[in-house]
Amino acid sequence: MKDFIVAIDGPAGSGKSSISDIVANKLGFTHVDTGAFFRAVTLEALNRGINLENEDEYSFLDDINVIYKDGKTYVNGKDVSSLIRTGEISRNVSTPAKLKRVREKVIEFERMSSHGKIIMDGRDIGTVVLPNADLKIFLTASNEERARRRFEQNKLMGIESDYNTILKEIIERDKKDSERAIAPLKQAIDAIAIDTTKMSIDEVSNTIIKLINERND
Ligand code: DC
Repeated sequence: MKDFIVAIDGPAGSGKSSISDIVANKLGFTHVDTGAFFRAVTLEALNRGINLENEDEYSFLDDINVIYKDGKTYVNGKDVSSLIRTGEISRNVSTPAKLKRVREKVIEFERMSSHGKIIMDGRDIGTVVLPNADLKIFLTASNEERARRRFEQNKLMGIESDYNTILKEIIERDKKDSERAIAPLKQAIDAIAIDTTKMSIDEVSNTIIKLINERND
């Protein structure tokens, strides 16, 4: 198969990352989880104790390189994969993600990874990062279903959590991600929307695989 770029966007908990992983594994694509880049920047910012709202305090961005490879996230070579999945990072990540300075840096990380057969997931991939993608998908699911999935995921990982808190946080994060001025969460006009509320992971993955195969004929 020649080069092929798939952009998958959607809100928190819509299944973007798990589904991208499955499709990438089945078709021999590389999956790039761009939320991981924003999470890694947030982790660094929190570790440095800066005021997350203040763009001027992000000069550390000049000294960091973030790589997403084989499901793992590295900041300057250090594996931060589990450190970026905490509730604290999820609650704070929308703040750095709305800043121009942060988004410009993350776009560098994203573009460095966008060659070959790629599935990139995020919020603005089809609209801003890879507007010429060969296939654009917009995944959605009801708020309740997305919260339920996060709750089950946490349970599997042995993390104690409260369904109602997760639901509230998911709704807040979507609101912030959709209403920000730069590169908000939005469906690209040429994206195919898939409502995954009542679909299994396999059903969604197979639908996307079919679409890729159709477009790649
Ligand atoms: O997909 P995720 O939950 O790991 O993403 C974390 C945050 O990163 C999300 O709330 C908003 C931001 N993000 C973004 O602004 N643009 C992207 N392309 C990906 C993520």
